[in-house]
Amino acid sequence: MMAQNTAPAPATPALDQTQMPFLESLAAEKARWQTSFHMPGHKGTLAPHPALLDYWGGNIHPADLVEINGIIDYLHAPKGALLAAQHLAAAAYGADHTFFLINGSTVGNIGAIMSAASDGQTVIMARASHRSVYGGVALSGAMPVYIAPEDHPEIGFPLAVRAEAIAALLKAHAPVAAIHITSPNYYGAQSDTAAIRALAHAHGAALLVDEAHGSHLGFHPGLPASATHLRADMVIQSTHKTQGALTQCSMLHCNDSGHVNLARVAQVLALLQTSSPSSILLASLDAARMQMATQGPALLGTALALAHEARAAIRQIEGLWCYGDELIGVNGIHAYDPTKLIIRVTGCGLSGFAAYDRLRYDFGIDAEFADLRQVIASITIGDTAASVQKLVDALRQIAAEARPAHTAEAVIAPPPGLPEIVISPRAAYFAPSRAIPLAEAAGHIVAENIIPYPPGIPLLVPGERIEQPWLDYLAYLMRQGSGVVGPEDKTLRLIRVVDGS
Ligand SMILES: Cc1ncc(COP(=O)(O)O)c(C=O)c1O
Repeated sequence: MMAQNTAPAPATPALDQTQMPFLESLAAEKARWQTSFHMPGHKGTLAPHPALLDYWGGNIHPADLVEINGIIDYLHAPKGALLAAQHLAAAAYGADHTFFLINGSTVGNIGAIMSAASDGQTVIMARASHRSVYGGVALSGAMPVYIAPEDHPEIGFPLAVRAEAIAALLKAHAPVAAIHITSPNYYGAQSDTAAIRALAHAHGAALLVDEAHGSHLGFHPGLPASATHLRADMVIQSTHKTQGALTQCSMLHCNDSGHVNLARVAQVLALLQTSSPSSILLASLDAARMQMATQGPALLGTALALAHEARAAIRQIEGLWCYGDELIGVNGIHAYDPTKLIIRVTGCGLSGFAAYDRLRYDFGIDAEFADLRQVIASITIGDTAASVQKLVDALRQIAAEARPAHTAEAVIAPPPGLPEIVISPRAAYFAPSRAIPLAEAAGHIVAENIIPYPPGIPLLVPGERIEQPWLDYLAYLMRQGSGVVGPEDKTLRLIRVVDGS
C-alpha cells in the first residue's frame, strides 16, 4: 500500500468548475473581431504558410488574439475573465491563489525563488534540482545550501530529500529565507512535504515545491496529495506535462501562511514573462483546469488502471523490472506517483539510454527519458489501452532478443560530497570570465552550469571549484550517452571559468 502524503480533501469549490471564463471571453471576441489595425501582424486574416497550416492541422491565426485596450483580460494585471479563470484554478488545485504561467515551470521556479529570497539570503535546496531553480538562485543573489543528494541504492539517482537532513541544515544555516524541494521528481517520487512544511514554518522559512511533474496529483485517491493540499507556500506545476495544456503552460499556486508576498510574486512574474502573453496558451490552461476539475477522477482512474496493468506486465518480463510500492521508505521517499513507470533494463543487457533508443528507432515509441539503468515512461490521461500495450509488447521483444552480456562500463558513482562553493552563483554568473580547455580546468572557479542531460542535475554550478573527480565523472556520463546543457561550448572542449581564478 502507498504510505502516501495524506491531506484533508480539498474543500469543495463553491465555483462552477464547468465554466472556462477566459476561453469563453476569447471565443466571444473572436466572433466579433472584424478589422484590426493592431498587433499581431497577421491580423487574423493573413493565411499561414501551407506548410505551417499542414503542421498545425488548421489555421490558428484567428484565435491568436491579444490584449488590447482592456478588452481581453491581461495576464500581468488581470481584472476580469482571466482573474476568474485563475480563481477557478486555485479552487480546483487546492490553493488560495493561482498565477497562470506561459513560460513553463521554468519561470515558476525562478519567480518563486526571486520573490521568496533576496540578495545574500539563504535558500536550502536539493542538489537534484532543475536548472531553473539554479537560475532563480543566480538571479535573486540568494546563497544556496544544498541538501546532500542520496542516490537510491538501485536506481542510482537521488529521488527524494529527508526532512531530517533539512532540519539539520535549518539549524546550521539560520536564518533561512526559503526551502525549495522538487516533489515529485522526474521519477514520481515524493518527499515528506507536510513534515518539511512544518519544519520550514517553525524556522520562519517559506516552502517552495517544484511540482512540475505533479499537476494531476490530488485529483484521484490512488495518487499522492498535491503540495497545494499539503499547504506548501508556493507550488509550481507544469500543467502541460501531465495534463492537457499546451507546452509552456504552467501554474504557480500560493497559499496564505504569512510567507508569500503576492504583490511581489506578481511583480517578479511580470518582469520575467513576455508582455504579449499568448491567448492560445492561456486558454489551454483554462480548459485543462476545467477538464481536471470535472473529469479528473474518471480520466485519472483510467490512466492509473493502465499504469498498474503495465507495471504488472513488465514485472513478468525476464530481465526487466518496473518499480512500485517498494520505493516507499527508501532515502526519504514518502510516496510515489504510480503513473510513472520506472523500467529497469540492465537485466537484459542494456543501459537505459540504449533501451530508449531501441524504443524510439525500432518501435516508434518515445519514452519520457532514460538514465544509465532505467527508461521512464509517463502514463497520462492521453494514454489508451493500445498505446500502453504497444509499450509493453516492445519491451517484451527488446528483452527477448539474445544479445551478448552487457559490456557497458561498470556503473560509476559520482564523487562523494559536492564541489566547494567559492563565490555565490550570482557573483560567478555575472563575473568576467574566459573559456579555457576542459582538460586544464581543474582548480578554477566555473562560470557556467555543467548539467549532464539526462538526468538534468548540475555537476557544477557557477561559483564552484572544478576538481578532477567531477571532470572524470562528467566524461564517464558522456561516454554513456548523456548530453550536457549549460556550457557555451556544446562540445565541452572549452569551459568558462571566472577571470582570476
Ligand atoms: C523538475 C522540473 N522542474 C521544472 C521543469 C521546467 O518545467 P517547464 O518545462 O514547464 O518549464 C522541469 C522540466 O523538465 C522539471 O523536470
